[in-house]
Amino acid sequence: MNNNIRIIMKIKAYFFICMVMCITESSCSLHNKAVLDSFAVDKQLEYCDAQVKRTLAKVDNDSSRMPRCVNANSADWYMVNIYDWTSGFWPGILWYDYEVTQDENIKKTAIRYTEYLLPLALPDHIGDHDIGFQLFCSFGNAYRQTENEAYKDVLIEGARKLATLYNPKVGTILSWPGMVEKMSWPHNTILDNLMNLEILFWASKNGGKKEWYDIAKNHAQVTMENQFRDDFTSYHVAVYDTITGKLIKGVTNQGYGDETFWARGQAWSIYGYTIAYRETGDKNFLRFAEKITDVYLKRLPEDYIPYWDFDDPNIPDAPKDASSAAIVSSALLEMSQLEDNKEKAKAYKDVAIKMLENLSSDKYQSRDANSSFLLHSTGNYPGGYEIDASINYADHYYLEALVRYKEMQSNTK
Ligand code: GLY
Repeated sequence: MNNNIRIIMKIKAYFFICMVMCITESSCSLHNKAVLDSFAVDKQLEYCDAQVKRTLAKVDNDSSRMPRCVNANSADWYMVNIYDWTSGFWPGILWYDYEVTQDENIKKTAIRYTEYLLPLALPDHIGDHDIGFQLFCSFGNAYRQTENEAYKDVLIEGARKLATLYNPKVGTILSWPGMVEKMSWPHNTILDNLMNLEILFWASKNGGKKEWYDIAKNHAQVTMENQFRDDFTSYHVAVYDTITGKLIKGVTNQGYGDETFWARGQAWSIYGYTIAYRETGDKNFLRFAEKITDVYLKRLPEDYIPYWDFDDPNIPDAPKDASSAAIVSSALLEMSQLEDNKEKAKAYKDVAIKMLENLSSDKYQSRDANSSFLLHSTGNYPGGYEIDASINYADHYYLEALVRYKEMQSNTK
């Protein structure tokens, strides 16, 4: 029996059976504790749980479609199928909500939405780098909380698919196979792809191939060398020559221009190098994460929520991107716990809390406007969609950050 068939049978058998039946420093100063205690995290977690239940009441009709965004002129979710790049975030939100509430109904619902994504792990699905977002946010959180071995198999299949996009000549993953012809980008690597190294690192240590670790580490290294300017701001897309393996150019897909500073690209990078350091222990990744964080923090407006592109000439009348703030707040809470520099650790933790405080204000929370958690994210400004919208990945990383914060707070008690 060939290997693919064996895997599909294993996964199918599992689903058939289902159908039938501180890390903070111990010497944490009083000041740090005061900062940690000052943010009412439980209130925000209760708010998220209530919004999850409002969303379920609106969208949960036993179809496998996922809520992706609520546009600025609407109160209703725009629903997508499981092949959409954002399909893992809604199951991820449900798993974080279950982690906090231990509500068995939410768990059942999380399992159902997670398992809808199973076809993404089957061999006939040709995906792109987004397989990491799709499977790690859903099955990754599911496995972490349930230790269900069938979920582990799905994650390993996801990592196997992602690894097939690696080009050893370049040293990075081909993020968008669909853009090779469409944009004449022979080998393209986008910053968002840094997030999806996590499934490779994880799978290499949990029954997958050891070489997936090397792929992930090389990708982080080569991206670090090619996709950032001298001032540590970033290019959304790096285009490489497949013959020489060398960089051809840095360009944008979702930023204002090729040479501008797109907020979410930098947010993914800050999170991505935090993962790379956590998984490899390579201090170069930590030092690099600090540099790309510091330039991001320096360019932030007063409320710590960036404009969608730091170089949009329409600032201060340009849209904001709350999703970047949510991603960065979660990353910095983790980075503060990995830091070997105590001052930086404290600074990153404090600024992450300020981001969370502002995201939790009446200016950024959706509250009665719609049933998402947050307003004011910008998905694709040049593409003309999801401008000043509520978007599921903003909610996903906001809730992840709240859960991380809560855990840090518990660890100081
Ligand atoms: N991964 C696409 C984005 O950040 O919009």
